[in-house]
Amino acid sequence: MRQSWIRLLQLLPTIFLLLLIFPQGSLQDRDPIKDFCRRFGHQTAVIDRKLYIDGGLVNWNPISSYPANYSNRALLYQDLDHNGEDGMPQLHANLSKSSQIPDVSGGVLWADEVNKRFYLFGGEYYQEPPAQAFTLYSFDTLENKWEMVGSPQGTVVSSVSYGAGVAVSERGEGYYYGGWLSNNSVLGWTGPPVATSTLIKYDMDSNSWTNNTGPDQVRRAEGVMVYIPAGDGGMLVYFGGLADLYLNGTGVGQPMDVIKLYDVLSSKWYTQTATGTIPGMRRRFCAGVTWPADQSSYNIYIYGGASMPPDTAGYDDVYVLTIPTFTWVKLYPTDGNVTGQYPHHSLTCNVVEGTQMLVIGGTFPLTEDCDAPTQWGTHNMDMGEQNEDHALWKLWDPTTVDGGDGSSGSDGNKTAYRVPDPIVAVVGGGPEGGATHRAPSTGFDAPDLKVLMTRTATLSATRSPTRPIPGATMSSSSTLGPHRSISSRAIAGIAVGGAVTLAAVAAVVWCIIRKRRRAGANGGNHAARRDDDPIGPGHSASFRSGPHTNVATSMSALSSYPPLPPPSPYLQRQHSPLPPGELAELSVGGGGASGAGAWLGADGVVYKLLSPSSSPSPGGGNGDVPPFKIDEHGRVVQKARRRRRRRIQRGTVREPAVSPTAGTPGA
Ligand SMILES: *[C@@H]1O[C@H](CO)[C@@H](O)[C@H](O)[C@H]1NC(C)=O
Ligand SMILES: *[C@@H]1O[C@H](CO)[C@@H](O)[C@H](O)[C@H]1NC(C)=O
Ligand SMILES: *[C@@H]1O[C@H](CO)[C@@H](O)[C@H](O)[C@H]1NC(C)=O
Ligand SMILES: *[C@@H]1O[C@H](CO)[C@@H](O)[C@H](O)[C@H]1NC(C)=O
Ligand SMILES: *[C@@H]1O[C@H](CO)[C@@H](O)[C@H](O)[C@H]1NC(C)=O
Ligand SMILES: *[C@@H]1O[C@H](CO)[C@@H](O)[C@H](O)[C@H]1NC(C)=O
Ligand SMILES: *[C@@H]1O[C@H](CO)[C@@H](O)[C@H](O)[C@H]1NC(C)=O
Repeated sequence: MRQSWIRLLQLLPTIFLLLLIFPQGSLQDRDPIKDFCRRFGHQTAVIDRKLYIDGGLVNWNPISSYPANYSNRALLYQDLDHNGEDGMPQLHANLSKSSQIPDVSGGVLWADEVNKRFYLFGGEYYQEPPAQAFTLYSFDTLENKWEMVGSPQGTVVSSVSYGAGVAVSERGEGYYYGGWLSNNSVLGWTGPPVATSTLIKYDMDSNSWTNNTGPDQVRRAEGVMVYIPAGDGGMLVYFGGLADLYLNGTGVGQPMDVIKLYDVLSSKWYTQTATGTIPGMRRRFCAGVTWPADQSSYNIYIYGGASMPPDTAGYDDVYVLTIPTFTWVKLYPTDGNVTGQYPHHSLTCNVVEGTQMLVIGGTFPLTEDCDAPTQWGTHNMDMGEQNEDHALWKLWDPTTVDGGDGSSGSDGNKTAYRVPDPIVAVVGGGPEGGATHRAPSTGFDAPDLKVLMTRTATLSATRSPTRPIPGATMSSSSTLGPHRSISSRAIAGIAVGGAVTLAAVAAVVWCIIRKRRRAGANGGNHAARRDDDPIGPGHSASFRSGPHTNVATSMSALSSYPPLPPPSPYLQRQHSPLPPGELAELSVGGGGASGAGAWLGADGVVYKLLSPSSSPSPGGGNGDVPPFKIDEHGRVVQKARRRRRRRIQRGTVREPAVSPTAGTPGA
């Protein structure tokens, strides 16, 4: 009797832990398709008619029952060839993403359309410190698997969030300007978030990084950046967002008529003043660019965003910055100097085939309504208004890439962008281009710009794939064999930066699995219970899809490091926040020392320390690295934090904020 009491007491922490994990787990793992309410802070990339959606936060439907923001752990995609029932590209949740891959907000997916992969750079964890020092991961869209590329060597590159990122597939380059360094993005960061003033460049083929200076010393974040093929190599165009002038986390809005340009060949920055209907200062909005075939105007479409405090609501409107006249044109709403009814921010814009722009997600400060849940928060702009109504907002037209079949409306032919009337009115020419105004009405602010704007970058045939791509010709430099590009790189990355980490992770993971299994045998099969979580039919199976679909297996296949345990459904699905109690702080000697030590935790689990000094130290942090621990997923943690109790309200399911058929983000 006495003994069983003791046993029960011993089990209490476990029971407490289970109580905390399970409601959490089941809430986190709602069906990403059926239970969708809102998505924001995510990152996207388009490759081969698939729009990939990674990370960010979600709200589940009904939001009144699930008031919290949840990290999206799935890699999703929308099929640009097939619409769902309500006229937007069908969302799928059957791609792999193991818990080793960061689930972050405000990062970027740099698409490499030539090699059919994308890279996840930057972003921040949700209300918790980063799990690891910055490591670049890449998703191979042909093989459907993630790979670890490794940490930058010899260059200071931290993970930053809500900066402005853009990829140039034709050049094999990813760029990221500004963004926040904070304790959610940089391992060991102390103090308030500080923005960076630097422009990060990643070269995809050589796996090399450059940390360049920005246009000035001002630290910026939450603006947008696009690439235009002007100048001999193309130019980056940045505007909006905020400046971090006080280094205390409070930003100062940036006027939208100040446009920063960066010539990628000369690495020179320029500033140009814009005119026209200048949008209000905003941050966390999104932008996409297109141009007619003759490149006589580059038209940057922007949507939404948050405003600067104290104005809190933000924007629900569309403007176009047309270059080289540098004129702002307002496209929506057109009835006066107002913004729409549903301001929202932290969303994404993706231009597809130069003709349509998918605007996805956003968080709405003024309403608790879901965002077109049957369309998964997807809205679509017909950028050239090439439809009978000359409407800007239209349902997704999946036929645009075909051409030749005459499937479009009266203006026909959506295979090519046509400049819409409101822009033609400003730049001259016609829908096909031929703009007659090619300079700002106030003149160019820099003489160089005048020259650069007359030149066009020749991008076709500048880059060949570095691995066999079905239907593509290999580059002659790829003489090292089919797997040269990523495989050797991945191995090198592991060897240099990740060997210790991997071994430690493997050991910890293995211990945990064993412990879990034992706990499962004692206290009920919770792993099995988790499998009943409503991930949804057809999704759960491939969530724990077989070998070669996650980092662990693909890397063990490539390298001679100790193989990781086989993927377990529990491991792949479980990504819960840290339960209290289990992660009582351990004293860790010599915080910055290299090498990994091992401890037996109070819970009987062996923990290993990842060496924080194996990665570049964050710019603003001091030398004092707080005590680290590795949690059950191999993530570096500092201490357990108690989750706030979730308030469950009863409430009615409200109508979606957006009519499911209109395709507009407004009424
Ligand atoms: C969810 O995120 C939004 C946007 O950052 C924020 O305004 C809101 O307060 C968050 N909700 C909760 C419950 O934390
Ligand atoms: C995901 O589901 C779609 C639609 O059923 C299917 O076409 C695709 O092959 C699946 N992808 C994977 C990786 O299982
Ligand atoms: C680039 O380098 C500078 C100077 O070392 C550093 O302060 C900054 O944080 C770096 N940028 C990023 C994004 O890591
Ligand atoms: C992270 O920084 C924020 C803002 O400075 C602070 O409120 C929070 O307590 C910090 N979190 C940790 C874990 O240090
Ligand atoms: C940051 O500093 C500015 C200027 O001193 C001040 O207006 C602002 O309130 C400060 N913000 C915080 C969070 O302390
Ligand atoms: C539009 O309204 C904003 C704020 O209400 C104001 O700052 C701006 O000057 C107005 N623009 C025009 C063209 O009236
Ligand atoms: C559509 O536009 C493209 C590019 O401008 C052109 O080559 C093609 O002939 C056009 N097709 C039709 C049916 O007009």
